[in-house]
Parts: sequence; structure tokens; C-alpha cells
Amino acid sequence: MIHIDKNNTYSILSSVQIAANVVKNLEREDYKLLRVFASGLEHHETLTRHQLVGYSKLHGDIVDYRVKGLQEMNLINKNNRGFTILNAGLDTFALKILAEKNIISGIGKPIGVGKESDVYEAVTDRQEERAVKFFRIGRISFREVTKKRSFALKEHDRIHHWLLVNISAAKKEVEMLQRLKNTGISLPRPLYRTMHCIAMNRINGARLVSVKDLEQPSTVLQNILLSIGIAYKNHIIHSDLSEYNVLVGETSCDAWIIDWPQAVTTDHPNAQQLIKRDVFNIVRFFNRRFGAGKNLDDALRDVLNSSSSRPTTTKNSAAPKIST
Ligand SMILES: Nc1ncnc2c1ncn2[C@@H]1O[C@H](COP(=O)(O)OP(=O)(O)O)[C@@H](O)[C@H]1O
Ligand SMILES: [Mg+2]
Repeated sequence: MIHIDKNNTYSILSSVQIAANVVKNLEREDYKLLRVFASGLEHHETLTRHQLVGYSKLHGDIVDYRVKGLQEMNLINKNNRGFTILNAGLDTFALKILAEKNIISGIGKPIGVGKESDVYEAVTDRQEERAVKFFRIGRISFREVTKKRSFALKEHDRIHHWLLVNISAAKKEVEMLQRLKNTGISLPRPLYRTMHCIAMNRINGARLVSVKDLEQPSTVLQNILLSIGIAYKNHIIHSDLSEYNVLVGETSCDAWIIDWPQAVTTDHPNAQQLIKRDVFNIVRFFNRRFGAGKNLDDALRDVLNSSSSRPTTTKNSAAPKIST
């Protein structure tokens, strides 16, 4: 079962925290209804009572009772066309699926609140660490909308629109990670995607942006450029690469590249600008912070000429003892 540390006190509960709190208290009928909302998202932005009864095959009185409870928990909302699922409702449904499939058994604290997602620590029933990423593109719109008591119709449409955007971003990120697995690039390993949510292995690394000192900055930079080059040779450009989307090992020169939903293929009309921007962002950061002294154009040329997989001899070149 999902559990959340009881001592966690949050002044404002995020939708994941609402979800983690309610997930164990909901009953079968509640999930039946959440499933109806979740599986109908592509086709319906709102579901009427009649549709809920029909799709869930639950008795009308039970639907009325459960829908009232789900509304009180802020998992769904009502307008004059019917009912819509909210962010916390979709989070709850996703957490339930992850628990049911035994992907995770508990969810804990946030480990990264990025631009477009909330990432939480999680554990399996064998105490393995996981990271669960909930997509939150359009977050600002959500905030404006969910703090209001009454929802106008166009706000429902906006919520619905962003839920679909987030589901498709999660799909896209998993697709990119799958295309790049086994190429030798250090990446998160997606374990399961449900709706707008990806469960992956938890990387034990620090965000490059918050690292003040690196033992061998040139080796780490080389590792990152090698990874960008391998992705490029496999026809993929990250397109949002910066010190915010690289995690580095604390005891090695390993560098994981994360956050791939906006990646494009090399036949994209702006491919050349995008690869250049990725490479320049990283090299400029290394030059600025660690005095790496790498020439931008040389770095770009190396990336464009790299091979499609990591040479086996350099795959574990991460050990700090290796000098460059
Ligand atoms: N697999 C992971 N292991 C550990 N931390 C992660 C993992 N994935 C993401 N994070 C943390 O969550 C933050 C946000 O994740 P990211 O994928 O970059 O999404 P965003 O689009 O919100 O920037 C990252 O900066 C990182 O600190
Ligand atoms: Mg990011």
C-alpha cells in the first residue's frame, strides 16, 4: 500500500500529497469511477452522471454517493455539463496503479520540483529506491484554477487540455529513453508509465547546477559530450540540455542526462540550432564554473562526429583516478 510519512507536515498539500493521503482510503467503487475518468480523458473533457453510471456499471445511487466523496477530496469537480477529473484525481489513480502493479509501495518527500514536473522519492516493498515523476506542464494555470470555488466551463477545458498534454509528455519521455537505452548513455531507467506519471530508478547524483567543485571537470564534460554525440548519432537531440538536466555522481565522473520529453529527432527543421544550443549550454557552464577552457566549436564538431555508442574502453572511464 501507499503510505506517506505521518510526520510530514505540509502547510499546502501538493496534489501528490493529497493523492498519497487518500489513496489507501478510497474504495473499489471510487477507483472504478476514477478509472472511467482516466480512460475517457482522450474523448471526453466532462462526463455526465448518465455516462458515469453507464461506463462504471455502478448503480446510480452509488455513483451519486461516490462522486460526492471524490468532489470533497478535490479529486474531481463539477460544472454544469457534468464532472471532470482534477490533477490530484489523476495522481491518485496513477499512484494506485503503481501500487497495484507492485512498482512502488510507498511515496515520500519531493526530490525535485522542476519546471514542468514534481519528482518524488518512492520505495518498493523490497526497500529499493525509486523516483516518480508527475508531469505538471501548465502548472500555473492549474494553480489559478484549483484555488477557485466555482469552475467556469473554459477552465474545465483548460484543465482537460493540460492533463492530455502531460500524459503525452510522459509517453514521449519514455519513448525517448527507450530509444536510447543500451547505447551507453547514462539515463534514468523508466520502470512503468501510467497516465502523466513515470516511475524510474532513483539516480544517486547531484544536480550539476548545485555542484561547486568537481574533481575532474574535463572528464565529466567529455562524458556529457560523448552522451550528446551518441544520442545525436541515434537521431535524437535532447533540446533542453543545461546544468539543470544533468545529474553527476558524487564519487565518480558519471553524468546522467535526464528530462527528455522535449527531445526531437535529427530531421527536425531546427535540429542544427537545437544541438548547438545543447552543446553550448553545457560547455559554457563548464567553462564558467570549473574553468574547463573548452572551445565551443570544437565541442560541437566532436559531438557531430561521434559514433553511435560509447566505446567499451571509455564506458567506465568514470573513475576519478583516470587523468585526462
Ligand atoms: N531518476 C531520478 N533520480 C533522482 N532524481 C531525479 C530523477 N529524475 C528527476 N530527478 C530530480 O527531479 C528534478 C526534476 O526532474 P526533471 O526530469 O528535470 O523534470 P523538469 O521537467 O520538471 O525539470 C531533477 O532536477 C532532479 O533533481
Ligand atoms: Mg529538468
